[in-house]
Amino acid sequence: MSTTAPCVRLQWDSEWWRCEVVRVVAPSSAPEKIVALEKWCADHHVDMAMVLIPSDEVTTLEVFVAAGFQRVDNRVTLVASASTMPVFRPTVVIRKAEFGDIAELRDIASRNHRGSRFYEDPHFPNERCDEFYAEWIENDVRGRADVVFVAHEEQHIVGYLSLRRQEDSTDATISLVGVDPARQRRGIASALFAHMGQWCAHVGVTRVVVATQATNDPALSFYQSHGFSIRASEHWLHRWWLPD
Ligand SMILES: CC(C)(COP(=O)(O)OP(=O)(O)OC[C@H]1O[C@@H](n2cnc3c(N)ncnc32)[C@H](O)[C@@H]1OP(=O)(O)O)[C@@H](O)C(=O)NCCC(=O)NCCS
Repeated sequence: MSTTAPCVRLQWDSEWWRCEVVRVVAPSSAPEKIVALEKWCADHHVDMAMVLIPSDEVTTLEVFVAAGFQRVDNRVTLVASASTMPVFRPTVVIRKAEFGDIAELRDIASRNHRGSRFYEDPHFPNERCDEFYAEWIENDVRGRADVVFVAHEEQHIVGYLSLRRQEDSTDATISLVGVDPARQRRGIASALFAHMGQWCAHVGVTRVVVATQATNDPALSFYQSHGFSIRASEHWLHRWWLPD
């Protein structure tokens, strides 16, 4: 009999959301696995479990929904060759982020990701979700990301793009990207991606991976018009044991 735990505890998330948060690993539709999952969660006093299930695994999806999990997001992962990024046109200044940018970055990020699964889940208060993205970009600037670029216009930060290199490969993953809502559709993200392309060529990154929500039309349109193609589609589901 396998003794592998069906979930891993998410330390950072548990502290941030102030409850016991776990992620289901290797989700399976087998009835005995669901029973084992339920028991493990009860034994470990889990408050919330999240799971990512490929969109084409319909049976697994149905089994998890029947077990009380709720769909909160359809995640789309896209990839592009780093060499297909747009050519940089100096419409805006792009530079590496500095600690002094953090306050402005927090402000934009806290207003810019409201379509994400955390906002979709009513158990997470919206204000805490705003703070989550502010914290996310701050942590990236403080070293969690390998590089953070900012777009700078008229003495203000107007956009950001953070990137993490993957171990043992020449891939990098976009951690967070966004443009001030008041400055969108003016080529600022394109300038950030052009700069990213130059950085990737310099450090030997050949492929860029990014994930977003299937409902995020601006982002999907942006990525697909910048050389990205869809590699995977998955559902995020959440289950809570706390009262509403
Ligand atoms: C996605 C995002 C970064 C694009 O930034 P941007 O600076 O507006 O993008 P650019 O001006 O360089 O490129 C514009 C292209 O992006 C796409 N796009 C941007 N906004 C769009 C919108 N509201 N509707 C449809 N397409 C849109 C289009 O392909 C557009 O090209 P077009 O104007 O020729 O149609 C921006 O919309 C954003 O910050 N969104 C909120 C945060 C977010 O969703 N981040 C990504 C997922 S984590």
